[in-house]
Amino acid sequence: MEETSNINELNQGKLPRHVGIIMDGNGRWARKHGKPRIFGHKNGVQSVREVSEAAAQAGIEFLTLYAFSTENWSRPPREVSALMGLLVETIHREMNTLNKNNIRLRAIGELDQLPPRTHKALLEGIEKTRDNNRMDLTLALNYSSRWELTECTRAIAREVQQLKIKPEDISESTISDYLATHFMPDPELLIRTSGEKRLSNFLLWQCAYTEFYFSDKMWPEFKKEDFNLAIKEYQNRERRFGKTSDQIL
Ligand code: FPP
Repeated sequence: MEETSNINELNQGKLPRHVGIIMDGNGRWARKHGKPRIFGHKNGVQSVREVSEAAAQAGIEFLTLYAFSTENWSRPPREVSALMGLLVETIHREMNTLNKNNIRLRAIGELDQLPPRTHKALLEGIEKTRDNNRMDLTLALNYSSRWELTECTRAIAREVQQLKIKPEDISESTISDYLATHFMPDPELLIRTSGEKRLSNFLLWQCAYTEFYFSDKMWPEFKKEDFNLAIKEYQNRERRFGKTSDQIL
């Protein structure tokens, strides 16, 4: 059995500021229970709730959830439309809780390509929580890193064309500033559930030095204590950024 963990065991001095999560395994979890895949997504929403609460309680400043990738459009249309509906429903239902807990909803991705109802609910949620400052909860929706890097390259090229930036002045921080994630630091920790060990086009640039944590649990099974366990494991790792152990002591 996996060890459990609670918030009191976390070392407040070594908390990641930003945690990214690839929520995977909803479909397999549902199938295991003899149910349609959307049953897994519905139960996945409960994990989103619990984990967001755990992250805010732990003092995480930025939580980014991979909710729908650019590649997910190729799923059966019924599943895509159920997921889009679930998002609308969830945003409406959770609005009060987000505000009560001072959590700001944000989104990254090609948002204007979402179905109009989903797009509208999302923009409303973002607007109604914009003054909250305890934690940013960012949904990656219709997001892929290659899309983001392509957009970033185009935007910088336009600036160069308009003589606002010189090519020799483009630095790593210029690129970070033009990414969809420009408002947050790079994630120190990335969690992926369901035993898969891939990045799947999520935050490729931003994960250059990120610690990865893989859980064999399916996303609907991933709860508060699992999140806290991931943070605890992160706190026991040594981040060297290319240096030797002696240099970081
Ligand atoms: C991965 O499981 C999950 C998704 C692609 C969607 C995640 C969506 C939710 C948890 C619900 C809505 C989210 C919010 C933020 C309100 P999968 O379908 O890839 O599972 P599989 O790998 O077993 O097929």
